[in-house]
Amino acid sequence: MDFKTPRYIPMSRRRRIYEGKAKILYEGPEPGTLIQHFKDDATAFNAKKHEVIEGKGVLNNRISEYIFQHLNDIGVPTHFIRRLNMREQLIREVEIIPLEVVVRNVAAGSLATRLGIDEGTQLPRSIIEFYYKNDKLSDPMVSEEHITAFGWASPQEIDDIMALAIRVNDFLSGLFLGVGIRLVDFKMETGRLWENDIMRIVVADEISPDSCRLCDIKTNDKMDKDRFRRDMGGLVEAYTEVAKRLGIVAEGERPQGSGPVLVKG
Ligand code: TMP
Ligand code: ASP
Repeated sequence: MDFKTPRYIPMSRRRRIYEGKAKILYEGPEPGTLIQHFKDDATAFNAKKHEVIEGKGVLNNRISEYIFQHLNDIGVPTHFIRRLNMREQLIREVEIIPLEVVVRNVAAGSLATRLGIDEGTQLPRSIIEFYYKNDKLSDPMVSEEHITAFGWASPQEIDDIMALAIRVNDFLSGLFLGVGIRLVDFKMETGRLWENDIMRIVVADEISPDSCRLCDIKTNDKMDKDRFRRDMGGLVEAYTEVAKRLGIVAEGERPQGSGPVLVKG
């Protein structure tokens, strides 16, 4: 399929497939594709807290593009095809597996609260957790037993998801470490992608400071959505700093990827 010259569909005539809290999915230019649009909406605590933060969508589109393109390049399959414009990217249509996969390297957030571990404590090893993606139930944590018993994913698929999660964690940890940022934890989603009769699990949705915990290695400053969750302010500034360190110029319509900037320790 030629993804280089997609049929142009005016915004007003596009079919909206799904609207989430921070993104909208539109029908794509070719069968099997979708357009993922990043909004400026920020939500927390299952949307009980909501604000529009101008510029957040543009930054997340860029940062997520950067991460997904690099994952594709190292052979970690994702739904990402290419970025279309400031707020949108072309993706492959997948069947989303209804799990939020969280990988943790350092204690924070709900793990710190649930188990009474001080935030910032290095974990003995990376820990993978699964949450059932269901807003009505506020995304409850589930075990592999629940996942297989209720048929959300098979044991083989859980193995594949965990292998992907570890590869993504290793890649992201190294990427961010190189620019002076610690990856505390992150959330990823996966989907089933069919090519002819073959199905594989790919990384889907987005990976951005909305879905990661990131902190500056030297100052420990938070560089992620906790700034919004905890009313700290400075969210766009922090996301811009992440984009700058990754070598993504955030200003202007056509930023150039100059490559990561080495931060000396
Ligand atoms: P938690 O500590 O609140 O469980 O969050 C773990 C990680 O998952 C953190 O990087 C933030 C991310 N996350 C999401 O992307 N979406 C969510 O709905 C939640 C609760 C967390
Ligand atoms: N994204 C989730 C929500 O709105 C929660 C979060 O990221 O903290 O509700």
